[in-house]
Amino acid sequence: MPILEVNNLKKGFDNNEILKGISFSMEEGQTISVIGSSGSGKTTMLRCLNLLEMADEGTITVRGEKIFDAAAKPYSPDELRNKRLHFGMVFQQFNLFPQYTALENVTLAPSLRGDGRSASEIENRGKELLNQMGLSDRMNNYPHQLSGGQQQRVAIARALALKPDILCFDEPTSALDPELTGEVLRVIRELANTKMTMIIVTHEMAFARDVADEVMFMDGGVVLERGPAKEVITNPKHERTIQFLSSF
Ligand SMILES: Nc1ncnc2c1ncn2[C@@H]1O[C@H](COP(=O)(O)OP(=O)(O)OP(=O)(O)O)[C@@H](O)[C@H]1O
Ligand SMILES: [Mg+2]
Repeated sequence: MPILEVNNLKKGFDNNEILKGISFSMEEGQTISVIGSSGSGKTTMLRCLNLLEMADEGTITVRGEKIFDAAAKPYSPDELRNKRLHFGMVFQQFNLFPQYTALENVTLAPSLRGDGRSASEIENRGKELLNQMGLSDRMNNYPHQLSGGQQQRVAIARALALKPDILCFDEPTSALDPELTGEVLRVIRELANTKMTMIIVTHEMAFARDVADEVMFMDGGVVLERGPAKEVITNPKHERTIQFLSSF
């Protein structure tokens, strides 16, 4: 059974159709990179998956459970909160809570959620995740005391702390200086090796080619081409994909 099935997602803003029927599925443990020019709808698609936006049409199914159906009645805030837990989200701008330490940023949501774990279990798990992100000596630092790359790694740990089925990244390195990009890409690569299921919107073509199992090229609100990462990046079939990749 696919871990995620997206069927015919459509989304418009002010009578302007931005997603024009996105359909794809992915298997557990897969990493998909989404590429495409500015305005093609990549962020809008991730926001619809995370239910930060409600698609106008279509369905989203996770592990066989239909978590979103545009034709269903509006979901209550409680329902939405629970459904959102299927997806973790890492944004371009790390969006950490400035008043909390790295560790508190990671443990806050699981503590508030009350999923049956004790405070010390949640804290131990938070420390483990920060260790995994190479931040064992930074747990008690506040965001302003951390570099952009460190902040982004805290944001990844924070997303993982809620045990999402699928972790989504929206251009996770594009706000970083080039010398900090590598450390973030490295931890994402390690997550791919642990078979975390991930959807990564990125402009880093070499990274997409090397780390993703598959690449999906979006253009004008549709998926124009999808295939094995190396194949799509090095030998694209569609004229628009060829054009897009030639600008890198
Ligand atoms: N809340 C909104 N209201 C109105 N228009 C929106 C809204 N969100 C997105 N759009 C429009 O949808 C289109 C697609 O935007 P989106 O952010 O999904 O593109 P993108 O592929 O992520 O681009 P980029 O590579 O620049 O991040 C753009 O034309 C944008 O202006
Ligand atoms: Mg975007």
